[in-house]
Amino acid sequence: MFDLIVKSANLPDGRRGIDIAVSGDHIAAVEAGISAEAGDVIDATGRLVTPPFVDPHFHMDATLSLGLPRMNVSGTLLEGIALWGELRPALTREALVERALRYCDLAVSQGLLAVRSHVDTTDARLVTAEALLEVRERVAPYLDLQLVAFPQDGYYRSPGAVENLNRALDMGVDIVGGIPHFERTMEDGAASVAALCRIAADRGLPVDMHCDETDDPMSRHVETLAAQAVRFGLQGRVAGSHLTSMHSMDNYYVSKLIPLMADAQMHVIPNPLINIMLQGRHDTYPKRRGMTRVRELMAAGLNVAFGHDCVMDPWYSMGSGDMLEVGHMAIHVAQMAGIEDKKRIFDALTVNSARAMGLQGYGLEKGCNADMVVLQAADPVEALRLKPTRLAVIRRGKVIARTAPRIGMLDLPGRPAAIDPGADYLPPG
Ligand code: FE2
Repeated sequence: MFDLIVKSANLPDGRRGIDIAVSGDHIAAVEAGISAEAGDVIDATGRLVTPPFVDPHFHMDATLSLGLPRMNVSGTLLEGIALWGELRPALTREALVERALRYCDLAVSQGLLAVRSHVDTTDARLVTAEALLEVRERVAPYLDLQLVAFPQDGYYRSPGAVENLNRALDMGVDIVGGIPHFERTMEDGAASVAALCRIAADRGLPVDMHCDETDDPMSRHVETLAAQAVRFGLQGRVAGSHLTSMHSMDNYYVSKLIPLMADAQMHVIPNPLINIMLQGRHDTYPKRRGMTRVRELMAAGLNVAFGHDCVMDPWYSMGSGDMLEVGHMAIHVAQMAGIEDKKRIFDALTVNSARAMGLQGYGLEKGCNADMVVLQAADPVEALRLKPTRLAVIRRGKVIARTAPRIGMLDLPGRPAAIDPGADYLPPG
């Protein structure tokens, strides 16, 4: 007797017609034809059941603040940073908590059950850290939230940033952040990477830095981050976020850089939605895409995990908390359109992101947490194409969100029909 069985599931690894049995908050069995009784049964009817989506790079202190105190007219990264600087003094704990909780509701409804959020520690009030620590606790039953102490205006460039970052870590923020390309000089940037890696090593924490988020082909902070990770024994505990300058770097230099990143076992976190919007802004034509070298990094064995970064904030006026939208953009910008490419992209929204965040008990195997999402699509490739309805979102064995399937009703002379955008797809072969 199980508490729940999800029947006739297609799994992301290609297994079809699989039943997933749940006891309590854990997966008890994953096999075809489970005949035991269960308290509840969900028939997936040959649709995709995946472990939850995971967003390893987000800014929950800024989300849903679009238009406060005004819109970003140029749409650039630098105007976004300036705009956030205008809004920052007016931030209150109550408003931050309210917006973050609203975003978490949206995320859960899309099957997104783990988020790593950077938290701006520039303002000495640290109201952002206070608010998101409260949110981390309040959402814990249904969403894993990790927090990164993020010196948005520069660790050395902004007065008080060194002290504020340490205070945020003392308060319980989980991860050490940084923004070396925003320091005044390349030397200051390199020094900030070394200082922040030392803090992480001393405190036993991971590192996740905004790194080389520019179009500057000479930016070298990812190299420094890889070297300092090895120096401080932080292999596998360091993430490089954005890394957009790698797009513009010399190919010979990158052929040396990627093995250094592999030595550091660096997690790579590109953010395709925001970076296709922000990069190449100083170019006339042709305009660079500016996303880091996803295919080459994956081929070198690095763990690549895509982030959403922003939803309706000073930097990005779009977004919906849907990681499939992130993957859809990644396919286009990285030009990874093959079937195997798309499967790799889907992994970068799920298992790779879980690995980057160090989530325990993640996956659809016996003994894992009973966390999963039923989608109105047959497989990962179709899910990326359709960004389909999340029919059921399950957390620790309980259904916490449901959405009715999307069915269109056709009323054409001689051709009345119900159209299921998923079921009407015929895969090649
Ligand atoms: Fe970011």
